[in-house]
Amino acid sequence: MDKEYHPGLAGVPATESSISFIDGEAGILEYRGYRIETLAEHSTFEETAWLLLHGKLPTTSELQGFRERLQKERASLPSELIQFAGSFPKTGHPMAALQASLATLGMFSEMPDFHNAEQSEAAIVRILAATPVLIAAFDRSRRGLEFVAPDEDLDTAAGFLAMINGERPDELFARILDVALILHAEHTMNASTFAAIVVASTEADPYTVCSSAAGALTGPLHGGANERVLIALNDIGGADKVPAWFAKKLANKQKVMGFGHRVYKTKDPRAHNLQALTRELFAKHGSTPLYDIAVSLEAEVVKHLGGKGIYPNVDFFSGIVYQKLGIATDLFTPVFAMARVAGYLAHWKEQMANNRLFRPGQIYKGGHDTAYEPIANR
Ligand code: COA
Repeated sequence: MDKEYHPGLAGVPATESSISFIDGEAGILEYRGYRIETLAEHSTFEETAWLLLHGKLPTTSELQGFRERLQKERASLPSELIQFAGSFPKTGHPMAALQASLATLGMFSEMPDFHNAEQSEAAIVRILAATPVLIAAFDRSRRGLEFVAPDEDLDTAAGFLAMINGERPDELFARILDVALILHAEHTMNASTFAAIVVASTEADPYTVCSSAAGALTGPLHGGANERVLIALNDIGGADKVPAWFAKKLANKQKVMGFGHRVYKTKDPRAHNLQALTRELFAKHGSTPLYDIAVSLEAEVVKHLGGKGIYPNVDFFSGIVYQKLGIATDLFTPVFAMARVAGYLAHWKEQMANNRLFRPGQIYKGGHDTAYEPIANR
């Protein structure tokens, strides 16, 4: 057996999967064989979630049925659960609230038998439906605002904006968030999806799987990068200040959030899509100075680090888009999670269809047969 150690398991296959595919050199991302650009142009988040979960695009009646189930489920979540999601410390991070809320959703739910397709589907629909509601319940409560009940006519993206902002969103805003959710829904064996399949492999329930994956998504090297990008752009303070800011980062050997990727060695295709959305949004609603700073920062980073394969990743432009949609900076990662649960659940299904407990090895670097020293002699 290969005993070579690969830090971060870089390049080591952890599973066989037919859910998504990345060509990191060419900048290609596909979900079930469909190019991400095609889905961003033609699909919706609900349809893409179905595609990820079922391996094929839905028919009109399948999609209609799925949307109705999601809307019904969203509207019938127990009020105690909503109260619970709104009861966390107001100063807590919304990702911690989401992680706890997803685990709690499990306590309010029937545990599915993963051998039973109907029960598994019911749990999947419940998690997809509840995630935006749980994020909004915490956000409204911490701002001292009343909970806004989900609008049964709205899909995931528009419904989320309506719940956090207290009014039906502009059509372009809703469409742009919908596309952003498509772009974030799945991404092969990233850290949080890996966490999801490891937890799934123990036969833990899908609520626990998604809660654990949300924990892994929180860190700044993964989903947590998006809110830090916006903080950095604000910190820079102007496009003319980019070179000096970046030179300092480089001198201090600090990473620039929103750049670099374990797999992509060119610009992340999702960053291209998000940048196009930013331009569309700004053409109608006016630009923000942060965009000019972002464009200068991209040029500066690529000039110095492009040779090392460091280019903008998905998190670089998403925050600029979300800010324009009225989403608070610390909700950027929860919005990422709201999309990515579709991927986690597709992987949960795939894992359970052919499960084997994850139990990797290690290369032991410690001692052996150490003599026990009584405490008085240490
Ligand atoms: N800014 C500056 N330098 C970076 C960088 C960044 N964002 N990302 C990687 N590098 C450099 C490292 O300093 C390292 O340089 P060295 O070889 O001279 O020491 C080299 O590129 C390899 O970096 P490493 O962290 O080992 O690569 P990885 O494959 O483990 O990293 C990430 C992938 C995503 C963890 C990394 O690019 C990163 O931390 N990016 C910032 C956080 C982020 O945006 N995360 C969201 C990812 S979608």
